[in-house]
Amino acid sequence: MGTRYVTGKTAAATFLMCPPRLYDVNYVINPWMEGNVHRSSREQAAAQWEQLHRSLAEIANVLLVEPQPGSPDMVFTANAGLVRRGIVALSSFHHAERQGEEPHFRKWFSDSGFSIREIPRDTPFEGEGDALFEADGRRLWAGHGLRTRASSHRYLTEAWNVEVLSLGLIDPRFYHLDTCFCPLSNGDLMYYPPAFDQPSRALIETHYPKANRIAVDEADALRFACNAVNVGRKILLNEISAQLCTELESRGFSVVQVKLTEFLKAGGAAKCLVLRLSEPSIN
Ligand code: ARG
Repeated sequence: MGTRYVTGKTAAATFLMCPPRLYDVNYVINPWMEGNVHRSSREQAAAQWEQLHRSLAEIANVLLVEPQPGSPDMVFTANAGLVRRGIVALSSFHHAERQGEEPHFRKWFSDSGFSIREIPRDTPFEGEGDALFEADGRRLWAGHGLRTRASSHRYLTEAWNVEVLSLGLIDPRFYHLDTCFCPLSNGDLMYYPPAFDQPSRALIETHYPKANRIAVDEADALRFACNAVNVGRKILLNEISAQLCTELESRGFSVVQVKLTEFLKAGGAAKCLVLRLSEPSIN
């Protein structure tokens, strides 16, 4: 690719989303859902999701999977699996509440021609929610401790013959890696350091020099700032502080804020609602 920041549909970055027609907070499997059971508005959720879908469709191809009854969290397609080079490592959900999504996602991937790798039930793995490639695709950062089990990481190494760097998550509010860790297309990293155990923070610092690390504060972390979708120069995320927005802009990014409050009630925002199907390097 000639230039680092190619945007527009021709670049063929492709993502999977699931319309929120059956979205609801039906159970509590993370701290965000507490007190929010049946408290989200389907109308508002639909409007917010449409806005995210529209913004993403301007810069990428977006495919859809049909929502299914009994799987209200299916909107969070990032948890369907992890995709690269036409291979999907299918999620094996930690909570029974989400295990019903697995056959629906398996069918979608199989119908769409992906080669499927199953992850055993006794090694929970929650897809791209807990596993993020660096923009150049060379390394895979994988979370564990709250949902995904560290013992699942070896299946990822095997699936793509890629180096996997494991990160321990310790704050239940940031239960998936994509809620607190976001590798960006220019080589920078946006993250929330207190979400990680000390060895993981040290590992992150070894790989990202200080100048490349954007450490967000707790307030922005709680706005799901790290739960960002980055396509080339564009960053799509929930509403964040003016200060963080300016910081991202000063690094050459164009920031698109989409209010996603209805999804925060289930513990998700922009990145959780989107699964990358194309290569990490296609921007
Ligand atoms: N309610 C969902 C859960 O707790 C939210 C998933 C958010 N997804 C993500 N990729 N962080 O599983």
